[in-house]
Amino acid sequence: EKGGYEHFMLKEIYEQPRAIHDTFRGRLRPDQGIIKMAGIDQNSERFLNANRIIIVACGTSWHAGLVAEYIFEDMARIPVEVEYASEFRYRNPVITENDVLIAISQSGETADTLAAIKLAKENGAFVFGVCNVVGSSIARETDAGAYTHAGPEIGVASTKAFTTQITVLMMIAMKLAKEKGVFSESKYHELLTELEGIPQKVERTLETNPLIEKISEVYKDSSNCLYLGRGYNFPVALEGALKLKEISYIHAEGYPAAEMKHGPIALIDEQMPVVVIATRKGHYEKVVSNIQEIKSRKGKIIAVVTEGDNTVKELADHVVEVPEASESMTPLLTTIPLQLLSYHIAVMRGCNVDQPRNLAKSVTVE
Ligand code: M6R
Repeated sequence: EKGGYEHFMLKEIYEQPRAIHDTFRGRLRPDQGIIKMAGIDQNSERFLNANRIIIVACGTSWHAGLVAEYIFEDMARIPVEVEYASEFRYRNPVITENDVLIAISQSGETADTLAAIKLAKENGAFVFGVCNVVGSSIARETDAGAYTHAGPEIGVASTKAFTTQITVLMMIAMKLAKEKGVFSESKYHELLTELEGIPQKVERTLETNPLIEKISEVYKDSSNCLYLGRGYNFPVALEGALKLKEISYIHAEGYPAAEMKHGPIALIDEQMPVVVIATRKGHYEKVVSNIQEIKSRKGKIIAVVTEGDNTVKELADHVVEVPEASESMTPLLTTIPLQLLSYHIAVMRGCNVDQPRNLAKSVTVE
């Protein structure tokens, strides 16, 4: 059932090219210049006339929501707020009939997310679900939705659910951008074609696995780890940190790279590994100067860079290369090495990777 892999998590990491492909298959049609998504097509007015989009989710799905905030605002120019479902439901939020709420949930059973949906519906908002499990409570409770086609995710640590959620949310943003006239035909076509090529780039990124295993060997006994990224890759830093803490029990924090000097920099010494996402498109120079700051404080730098990068190679202790991509698509690639890093470290520490202590696959109680 693990298809020759030692753990479900590794199998699911390796399934990502296929899972992303399955998620856009039948929807993405670059030759015709369209993305077909019935849930959006039938409700496009609700989206286009929305005051704002509120995204609610928990855990990794919340991180996908944060990536979507960058994508929606950048591509479709619709204001987005991303909320922890647990906070949103209890803080007497202002919700109007002109709001669209997107709930993201792999399992479709997360109690707080479900409660946030009910609250939004009571207040007249239009509620759209992005779920993986077909027929789940959230899928049934929402007004419309789009499934991720990741296939069953067994490992408690979410991997392919995350990248397929981003894929669905990106297709929605592109569709809306096109309908709003933000994108020209040619820009739209270019992005559709690029998204179609992402599974192949994920495949290439997975080839970094042996290198990541070596890096993991070096840092497996660390007691702390920092993850930094900017823009689209700030949520990826959060996700990398969550993966490490949940399966290896190493304390990890994700930060927007520029926030480092507002506190976390005090933690940096020769014992501190810092994972930095420094892809070429995305405030590259600024991230490079963050890397310099870490280096001068003797922090150990593991950098995720674009193929062919030389500048960071000079500074970092380890570099992991991912294929070149538009900034908006880099999270689909930069996430992969971080998943592998946490996986190998957890295995080396003898942790139960698929069933980490104290955690459940679906959190059906608050
Ligand atoms: O099923 P959901 O997507 O609603 O689950 C949300 C979180 O419980 C989940 O992403 C959790 O954070 C994962 N264990 C992270 O790997």
